[in-house]
Amino acid sequence: MSTEAPSSPDFLKVEGLAKTYEGLAEPVFESVNFGIARGEFVCIIGHSGCGKTTILNALAGLEKASEGYVFMDGREVTGPGLERGVVFQGHALMPWLSVRRNIAFAVRSRWPEWSAAQVDRQVEQYVAMVGLSAAIDKKPSQLSGGMKQRVGIARAFAIQPKMLLLDEPFGALDALTRGTIQDELLRICAETQQTVFMITHDVDEAILLADRILLMSNGPRARIAEIVRNTMPRSRQRATMHHDPQYYRIRNHLVDFLVHRSKDLSHGRAPEHPPELSPGLADEPSPEPAPAGAQVLPLRSVA
Ligand SMILES: Nc1ncnc2c1ncn2[C@@H]1O[C@H](COP(=O)(O)OP(=O)(O)OP(=O)(O)O)[C@@H](O)[C@H]1O
Ligand SMILES: [Mg+2]
Repeated sequence: MSTEAPSSPDFLKVEGLAKTYEGLAEPVFESVNFGIARGEFVCIIGHSGCGKTTILNALAGLEKASEGYVFMDGREVTGPGLERGVVFQGHALMPWLSVRRNIAFAVRSRWPEWSAAQVDRQVEQYVAMVGLSAAIDKKPSQLSGGMKQRVGIARAFAIQPKMLLLDEPFGALDALTRGTIQDELLRICAETQQTVFMITHDVDEAILLADRILLMSNGPRARIAEIVRNTMPRSRQRATMHHDPQYYRIRNHLVDFLVHRSKDLSHGRAPEHPPELSPGLADEPSPEPAPAGAQVLPLRSVA
């Protein structure tokens, strides 16, 4: 495989990615093309089974695609690396280790030459960042689900990755905890200029967090069918963003894609190079009205 960087300003570049499993007549996805700029927060949305986790695993270097390339910071991704931090849907903590030791394990892998005091300082800083200092010497079994998720996030951030990969990191949380952690994540990303690729099933979460939202068509032969620019100001807040009329234009566009277009664009009917859209703005066609009740439809129920 080529290790030459593409001549593109994108920090992360995905080119012609495809995945075919043995025994399947058609690829799960194919011709997946997109880029992510340094410091950008990108969410991907699509129906269950279209291949989002497989794409994230390919970016992490944990899974080999059947075709195509992933480049990060000018180098081809060919295996896992500590310059990419992954938060899995399950928190994936080691149950026999305390919070401190779970994170220290990752920090020591990243900087094997560090002294115990340096490791400890790094661990304590990132545990404080997610508000868990009081629980630092507890084991995962002594923590709530939301606290475990925070440990997973602290661990991923503590290795100061160039790219953060999040697979539905808040999927199992209640709405209140989810909101708190979303706010924390936004604050941390703003502070650290972190580049993020995140899978979510929650349209509102995507509008709150993402600079751009990748919409994936259904499989087989799923593709990134559209890229939606989030035209709301980056200073948007969870509690108030629904007062902005632009919020509903973007939301309706996303829900309409999931309810109608994602299915029609399966079997490779989506374009290889997705158009970038700004729903509701003057130069864009108005999105079709979302079906009645769509304003309160959680994505899981339309999947
Ligand atoms: N080892 C495998 N063999 C055959 N098919 C597989 C294998 N692993 C995954 N798949 C299929 O690949 C597709 C994509 O899986 P993936 O986990 O990436 O989907 P996803 O978009 O993350 O779904 P979800 O939203 O439910 O998490 C699914 O249809 C799944 O059945
Ligand atoms: Mg998945």
